Amino acid sequence: MHVMTVIGARPQFIKAAPVCFALRDAGIRETLVHTGQHYDEGMSEIFFRELGIPTPNVNLGVGSDSHGKQTAAMLEGIDALLLRERPDIMVVYGDTNSTLAGALAARKLDVPLAHIEAGLRSFNRSMPEETNRVLTDHCSTLLFCPTEQAVAHLAKENITEGVHRVGDTMFDAVRLFTARAEQQSRVLSDLGLAPKAYYLATVHRPYTTDDPERLAATMEAFGRLDRPVVFPAHPRTLSRLRAGNISLAANVKLIDPVGYFDMLVLQKNAWLIVTDSGGVQKEACFVETPCVTIRPETEWTETVVSGWNRLAWGDVDVILAAVAHQQRHVPATRLVAYGDGFAAQKIAGILRRQASARSAVA
Ligand code: UD1
Ligand code: UDP
Repeated sequence: MHVMTVIGARPQFIKAAPVCFALRDAGIRETLVHTGQHYDEGMSEIFFRELGIPTPNVNLGVGSDSHGKQTAAMLEGIDALLLRERPDIMVVYGDTNSTLAGALAARKLDVPLAHIEAGLRSFNRSMPEETNRVLTDHCSTLLFCPTEQAVAHLAKENITEGVHRVGDTMFDAVRLFTARAEQQSRVLSDLGLAPKAYYLATVHRPYTTDDPERLAATMEAFGRLDRPVVFPAHPRTLSRLRAGNISLAANVKLIDPVGYFDMLVLQKNAWLIVTDSGGVQKEACFVETPCVTIRPETEWTETVVSGWNRLAWGDVDVILAAVAHQQRHVPATRLVAYGDGFAAQKIAGILRRQASARSAVA
C-alpha cells in the first residue's frame, strides 16, 4: 500500500509525527509532501529534526501569499505529484490551506482521501479554517474523527460512511514525546523560569493579530498579568506588532517560536496559558494547565466543558476576568475526550484493512 501525505504548517508536523511512525510500523509506504506553507527553520525544520519525522520526499516550496495564490500553487504541485506517483490514498490533516489543496487535488483525480481531524466545526465561516475543514470533509472517503462530537457534526451533514472515531493524534504526540521533552529541554533554565511562576501566551489568528486595536488590547492584558508572560511569537504576530508599533510591558518576554519539546515543557510548567491556538488550548488541557482561549468560540468544545479551558472574547477586562476565573476554578479531573493516545495505530490499521479489502475486490 502506498500513502501520499500532504502537510505544510507547524501543527501538521506534530499531528503527523505519530501517524508517520504507525504507518512505518504497519509496513505502509508513505510519500511525504511538504507544501512549504511554513518555511522558517523554527516553524518547520526543527519539528522534523526533533520528532524524527522522515525528511519530506518533496517540498513544493510555495511559501506565503494570498489564500488563493497559495492554495492554487499547492494544488498545481500536488496534482502533478499525484499523476506521477499514483498513491492508493491521500492523507491530509486539520484545516489549513495545505489541507484543502491536498483534498481538492485528490478529489479531482479520484484518489481516495483520508482526513485526519475530521468533523471539527467552529460554525464561524469568517475563519479560513472553517471553509477548509468543511470542504475537506466533503471530499473525503475516510474521516478520522478525534471526538464523538466530531462524528455527530458529520452526521448532521449526512456524512456517515467511512467515519471512524479514533482519538486525537495531538494527544498521541503528547503521550509519545513528553518524557523525552522533559529530559532534553533546557528552556526553563535558559529563560530563568521557575515552574508555575509564569504565564505562557501565544496568538496568531488573523482576527487577533490583524486588527491593531485588538492586538494592542491583547498585549495590554498580558502586561497586566501578575507574573512574567513567556510569549513565543508566530512570525505573523511579530510582523503585526512591528507594523502597529505596539509596545510590550516589561513582564512580557517576547521570544522566537520554540520547538515542540520546549513548548511541551513550557506548557506543562506554566501557571496558566493564554492563547488563540487550536493545538495549544488542547495541549494545555492534556498537561493539566488551566487555559484561557482568546476566541469567540472554539471547535474544541470538550476543553471548555471540562473546565480546563475558558473562552474570552472582548476587551482587556474580559481577558483578565477569564484568567482570574481559571485560577480560582482548577478542575479536579483530567480531560478524557480525546482518545487513549493510540489514534495513530488505529488509523494505520484502518488504512491497511481498507487496502486489503480493495485488493480483494480487484
Ligand atoms: C496557518 C493556518 C492556520 C494555522 C497556522 C498554524 C491557513 C489558512 N492558516 O496560519 O490555520 O493555525 O498556520 O501556525 O492555512 N510566515 C513566516 N514564516 C513562516 C510562515 C509564515 O514569516 O515560516 C509569515 C508570513 O508573513 C505569512 C504569515 O506568517 O504571510 C502567515 O502565514 P500563513 O501560513 O499564511 O498563515 P498562518 O497565520 O501561519
Ligand atoms: N508550538 C510549538 N512552538 C511554538 C508554538 C506552538 O511547538 O512556539 C506547537 C504547539 O505545541 C502545538 C502546535 O504548535 O502543538 C500549535 O500550532 P499553532 O498554534 O501554530 O496552530 P493551531 O494549532 O492554532 O492551528
